[in-house]
Amino acid sequence: MPDAQKHLLLVEDEAPLRQAVAEQLTDRGYRVEQADSGETAIAKLADFAFDIIITDLRLPGVDGSAVVEAAVERYPHIVAIVVTGFGTVKDAVEAIKRGAWDFVSKPFQIDELLHVLDSALEQRRLKSENAYLRAQLEERYRFEGIVGKSRPMKLLFQLLETVAPTNSTILITGETGTGKEVVARAIHHNSPRRMHRFVALNCSAIPEALLEAELFGHVRGAFTGAIGNRQGRFEQANKGTLFLDEVGTMSSALQMKLLRALQEREFERVGDSNTIKVDVRVIAATNSDLARMVAAGQFREDLFYRLNVIPVQLPPLRDRKEDIPLLVQHFLERFQRERHHTGPDRRLLDRGAPATGERRRYLTVSQEGMRSLMAYPWPGNVRQLENAIERAVAFSAGRQQIDLTDLPGEIQQAQEPALSSTIALPEDGMDLDAFITNIERELIERSLERTGGNKGQAARLLNLKRTTLVEKLKRMGKA
Ligand SMILES: Nc1ncnc2c1ncn2[C@@H]1O[C@H](COP(=O)(O)OP(=O)(O)OP(=O)(O)O)[C@@H](O)[C@H]1O
Ligand SMILES: [Mg+2]
Repeated sequence: MPDAQKHLLLVEDEAPLRQAVAEQLTDRGYRVEQADSGETAIAKLADFAFDIIITDLRLPGVDGSAVVEAAVERYPHIVAIVVTGFGTVKDAVEAIKRGAWDFVSKPFQIDELLHVLDSALEQRRLKSENAYLRAQLEERYRFEGIVGKSRPMKLLFQLLETVAPTNSTILITGETGTGKEVVARAIHHNSPRRMHRFVALNCSAIPEALLEAELFGHVRGAFTGAIGNRQGRFEQANKGTLFLDEVGTMSSALQMKLLRALQEREFERVGDSNTIKVDVRVIAATNSDLARMVAAGQFREDLFYRLNVIPVQLPPLRDRKEDIPLLVQHFLERFQRERHHTGPDRRLLDRGAPATGERRRYLTVSQEGMRSLMAYPWPGNVRQLENAIERAVAFSAGRQQIDLTDLPGEIQQAQEPALSSTIALPEDGMDLDAFITNIERELIERSLERTGGNKGQAARLLNLKRTTLVEKLKRMGKA
């Protein structure tokens, strides 16, 4: 929304100057919030996703550079501008290193500030346009809603690009919830048959006695209850794609008939002797090990080879954990969008402050929550992750962040391997102090996260005095 009013946080300890600048900015159409110290600014940033922050560098307590850093860390897209009081460029450079976009030196004319602000916003816009274009490009590699950038997924996309346009029969294997059906649909939609139907049949969901009629159709009176003539799925899928899901559960008599239909592309309706010819591409899927079933005599070998012309194996989610954050993002966006459009709080949103809608777009998962999501082994694969995120979005009830406690219990309990098991002394030695400092910082951050920023509770978790914790935070530049 390029022309929407921009929310600006103005941080300046000199009240008269702050007031004057705030008024001028308000006159130019900015929605200005004021803070008289770095601490107040950081607290306000925690509550609201500002578009712009303008801060004095020299502040009592937390200085402007630290405010900028905190702002950029929280909102990578924020435009931060610093005001330097004493003409030393050095501090401004430091602030820019920490993420500020530009600076103006005191004393300044308001036009000067506005000019810097305008050009920063323009550059920001161009940059995000580029990011948008890049995202669109990346979108292509997702193969229509199949999310993943891990190596196994990249290989899968390559394979799909090659096989989708052909007529070859494909056998998709993978554990439950790995995306067999989405992949089958994606193949159809990337094939020349996309103008025709994609017909899906779950072979295990239909009683064996009815499956043959379901596949090939029947004529009137073929069996009790067959009141009229009926097309089967093969006929319905003519010129299109037939997706045979859970193909491993068929009886051997039916396997025989399917084999013939695949070989000859012809069959008879149940109770009829007329042969019907069709032009159908078949994609089959199974989560059982068909090769093993063949070896055990439970599945016809010739049918297996007929189906397995091109095998497509979908990796379980635990083997491509680097895709988890991407999938989480994908589902967050989807469920937020759905809630936003259809959720029960739709009317509340419309009436409420625009800030609510604004904030909603930033729904994220806390570090702690993400760590559990990464540590959990996901036996139900992507479907289970999808359900967990849907539930968490509902539980988060308008908060900005999904917390650990919004996730299902078994996922909350998933833990990363203990720190000690990951510590190894590198071949060529290490910097012990830096290492310890890092671990300390990490644990302090986790304790604050778990206690929602409450320093007293965090200190207790770490068996420290509150003052000691505050002392350490200061040294970390975080108090
Ligand atoms: N790579 C992916 N990117 C985005 N969504 C995915 C991905 N893989 C699966 N999903 C989603 O996960 C859910 C399960 O996928 P799908 O039904 O295709 O799995 P399946 O392998 O057929 O599972 P089952 O064996 O239980 O039938 C669907 O809602 C699907 O949209
Ligand atoms: Mg399925």
